Amino acid sequence: MFSRAVRPTVSLVRGLATSSQNKAKVAVLGASGGIGQPLSLLLKNSPLVSHLSLYDIAHTPGVAADLSHIETRAKVTGHIGPDQLDAALQGCDVVVIPAGVPRKPGMTRDDLFNTNASIVATLTDACARTCPEALICIISNPVNSTIPITSEIMKKHGVYNPNKVFGVTTLDIVRANTFVADPSFCS
Ligand SMILES: NC(=O)c1ccc[n+]([C@@H]2O[C@H](COP(=O)([O-])OP(=O)(O)OC[C@H]3O[C@@H](n4cnc5c(N)ncnc54)[C@H](O)[C@@H]3O)[C@@H](O)[C@H]2O)c1
Repeated sequence: MFSRAVRPTVSLVRGLATSSQNKAKVAVLGASGGIGQPLSLLLKNSPLVSHLSLYDIAHTPGVAADLSHIETRAKVTGHIGPDQLDAALQGCDVVVIPAGVPRKPGMTRDDLFNTNASIVATLTDACARTCPEALICIISNPVNSTIPITSEIMKKHGVYNPNKVFGVTTLDIVRANTFVADPSFCS
């Protein structure tokens, strides 16, 4: 999946690397969460982003206000609740989705799926209607199930492009590397 994912990403970055095209609108859906907030902070620091659109069902006005104080070029807008979802997605080039619930002690992956599947389905349905050309990057777990859901939703709308749907596992991989490198974890 990684090599397939890198090609269009590299070409997008190359395309954005010229000053005339350096104007990507990026949406983060689930922007107020444990992943969404630091991810949005990193995106606010990217010179490739001209508009950072933050959507969540809670707290996005405050998160957007805080990030807008950083003196980088990206304009930041906050959108809250389903009524504002389409506005958040309008004209997006990239949509990153960390919305959902993380696994808590006692929860199985099935429990996680039951909640996150419908959240991802609703959000990607809005992407298919509102910004069908955007790159869609799914972080919400279980990624190996939320990606097929996304693909089927895009197919249902007749806008599926396998080169534009990505499962993001970077955080889990970084965490795994950290655990393996920690001697106290291995002993
Ligand atoms: N792929 C990876 O490498 C990786 C790594 C860690 C966590 N995750 C997954 O990422 C997801 C988020 O984790 P987290 O720690 O940020 O959780 P979190 O609970 O801190 O944040 C989730 C956010 O999603 C929002 N949300 C819930 N329902 C929503 C909806 N319908 N529309 C928009 N936003 C909604 C919540 O309000 C919250 O702000 C989880 O599914 C977790 O398992 C993936």
